[in-house]
Amino acid sequence: MQVDGEKQEDAGVLQGDVGLELGARIAAALRTALDVSITPEEALIRPSGRAGVDYQCNVAMSLAKRLGRQPREVAAAAVEHLAADDLVASTEIAGPGFVNIVLRDDWLGARLSALLADPRAGVPEVDAPRRFAIDYSSPNLAKEMHVGHLRSSIIGDALLRLIRFVGHEVVPHNHVGDWGTPFGMLIEHLLDEGWTADGSQTHAIADLNGFYQQARLKFDADADFADRARRRVVLLQGGDEATLALWQRFVDESTRHFEEVYRLLGISLRREDLYGESFYNPMLDDTVTELTAKGLTELSDGAVCVFPPGFTNREGERLPLIVRKSDGGYGYPATDLATARYWADDRAATDLLYVVGNPQAQHFAMVFAVCEQAGWLTEKHRAEHVGFGSILGADGKTIRTRAGGSVKLVELLNEAVDRASAVVAERTELDAEARASVAHAVGIGAVKYADLSSDREKDYVFSWDKMLAMDGNTAVYLQYANTRILSILRKAESRPEPGTPVNPADPAERALALALLRFPAAVAAAVDGLAPHRICGHLYELATAFSAFYERCPILAADTPEDVRGSRLVLAALTSQVLTLGLSLLGIEAPERL
Ligand code: ARG
Repeated sequence: MQVDGEKQEDAGVLQGDVGLELGARIAAALRTALDVSITPEEALIRPSGRAGVDYQCNVAMSLAKRLGRQPREVAAAAVEHLAADDLVASTEIAGPGFVNIVLRDDWLGARLSALLADPRAGVPEVDAPRRFAIDYSSPNLAKEMHVGHLRSSIIGDALLRLIRFVGHEVVPHNHVGDWGTPFGMLIEHLLDEGWTADGSQTHAIADLNGFYQQARLKFDADADFADRARRRVVLLQGGDEATLALWQRFVDESTRHFEEVYRLLGISLRREDLYGESFYNPMLDDTVTELTAKGLTELSDGAVCVFPPGFTNREGERLPLIVRKSDGGYGYPATDLATARYWADDRAATDLLYVVGNPQAQHFAMVFAVCEQAGWLTEKHRAEHVGFGSILGADGKTIRTRAGGSVKLVELLNEAVDRASAVVAERTELDAEARASVAHAVGIGAVKYADLSSDREKDYVFSWDKMLAMDGNTAVYLQYANTRILSILRKAESRPEPGTPVNPADPAERALALALLRFPAAVAAAVDGLAPHRICGHLYELATAFSAFYERCPILAADTPEDVRGSRLVLAALTSQVLTLGLSLLGIEAPERL
């Protein structure tokens, strides 16, 4: 088989989900047989759990109801007109009208052997790329990042990778809290500590939280300081140059702290991705003026408000989105209106995603509603709050340190790497440097995977033992499975070439083959549902299928025939390829040895 030349031409056939391919064939058969039009998705093709059956088609039941016919009759019509001899070996109508489908061995084999040359592991690129603007991480500058921002950073980064991989454009923006009244007292505290506007004096702030708390204490205890702080806010908002320079120095110093966390996490947020609240400050007047000009604002207790339709409290009173406070200042909601308007309008983003904790669901729903009223978001756009639950400690409450304080991210990540070192120390004959890099991959991978593998909307319990377990749905289990395969491939003298014949004859081989072909469906599900856990679930299934296969089907044993060995090596290599790619889409490293 000449893979290179052929691959290009056949890309359409080789890529994509097998279930959808079958769906397209069934849909075509139904069109011919019954003159109905359904989409490949509506054909309801599902992987079958039953031995000896690969896929199942469930369309007959619902379609029969729609057409007023018997389900088995509909199923029979679909089967009779099915033109799929190239990929389907047999069909059988079961129960009330399910169609059981068995794929052809040669088709399965050809598809797998061609897949080896596809770095995308069969995942197609979208036909119509959109432009996504993703708001994630978004900590507050005055404070150190805490575990709440961990989830946003990890989930946002995984979504960015996934959405980019399928071919969309993605622009990240880090909506840091870098503006507002706290910055008056922070700047005054900086001055007291000997900082200067021209940057001639530099003291690194070792502990941002401590710095904030000191400023706060002085503000509460010292009327003079509080006065200075208030005047400083006015100067800041008035654009006073010296004040802005000091503010900038504080922003830089805080950013340094976040960058340390991003570096540890392997998250690609850069300085140029910073679009803090201050960035939108010059747009706020205009935003509110436009809302008023469009007749959307009302004055309520001296504040300028919009009451988007459909938002009421328990008493049935309309809920306001306060766009301008009675003191004339703008707050969080006004900034988010300006933000959505900026990304939709100025930056022509089509999809606006906000990876922010569940408690802000109502805020975003109201912001989106007002943007629709104002015409900033139209039917061309999709705006979505990508919410997530809390990280809980073993006691089921929000996670705390042993001393009862809030957990700092840097400390947590360093602890993850330390604990992983202990796990790695037992297993390896690597040198110290390699061991450190593996410990990093395992430790950080554990934290990220624990976060990504559960449904993001739910809370999850943070447990070192669980996330570093060598078996179960963990990163290290997948990483270890991958290194085992790589070691098999090293032991085999030659790497399997694309085009090597594959014949998944044993049921365990077939189960693994089908799992490999389901990767595109898992990616599609993760992108559609903004649900990275769909990838985790799939990779875990795949690694489990590999283990069952490896137990039953010796690869390198002396009595394994040459062709069987070749075929099994392809399955092993493909498994490693999908595990590595899948982990990389989650932002997790796959070390070569462990
Ligand atoms: N800084 C905010 C917080 O820590 C999150 C900002 C989220 N993004 C936004 N556009 N509102 O709660």
